[in-house]
Amino acid sequence: MENGAAPTVPAVIVAIDGPSGTGKSSTSKAVAAQLGLSYLDTGAQYRAITWWMVNNGIDVSDPAAIASAAGKADIVSGTDPADPTITVDGVDVSGPIRTAEVTSRVSAVSAVPDVRARITELQRSLAASAERGIVVEGRDIGTTVLPDADLKVFLTASPEARAARRSGELKGADVNATRTALLQRDAADSTRKTSPLAKADDAVEVDTSDLTLQQVVECVVTLVEEKRAAK
Ligand code: DC
Repeated sequence: MENGAAPTVPAVIVAIDGPSGTGKSSTSKAVAAQLGLSYLDTGAQYRAITWWMVNNGIDVSDPAAIASAAGKADIVSGTDPADPTITVDGVDVSGPIRTAEVTSRVSAVSAVPDVRARITELQRSLAASAERGIVVEGRDIGTTVLPDADLKVFLTASPEARAARRSGELKGADVNATRTALLQRDAADSTRKTSPLAKADDAVEVDTSDLTLQQVVECVVTLVEEKRAAK
């Protein structure tokens, strides 16, 4: 090899979409860590802008008010899978974006086209600047944000498996209430007009209901390696 330079591996872009509770975040972080890639949680960005709207007195039941404030928050995502950070106007919001209040309002805020345009731009610029490549998780990554991704995965799971996982994460929250809230949020996210939650035609669907996290990670890592070998 000329100048003794290390062989370069082409950057790989991986889109992982699906509804909540399918194991998207855990899988995406582990795949990125294992392959030395960057990682982006796009749900955290929508939660961060929602947190900003709520904290700045924006009426989140009014799409026009949301649209006119869409460009105001400075959202910065750290893309290290071992320590994915998120700040708004320099404030660490990784805790506050997970509150029930933000969770209950995020679908309404993220349905507004001006919000999606703003966040999509941030996502594309982070993906373009990831030298070794990136795993981006969300709802519309394979369909809208990164339609040319090298690999698209769509994770699914039964409502029961998803509710059980989510209530475990929420430290024993009632499974039935969690299931109802989760299905309501999916319905809102899947039926909105602008880039709804959807499986891209060329995505590989993986049902995680009866798989361990380890099995899902292995499956996605194998798919990435196959794509890399074919590049
Ligand atoms: O993944 P999550 O539950 O943290 O996502 C929170 C919300 O953000 C979800 O209900 C819909 C929205 N979202 C979106 O509209 N598009 C994305 N790419 C990611 C999340």
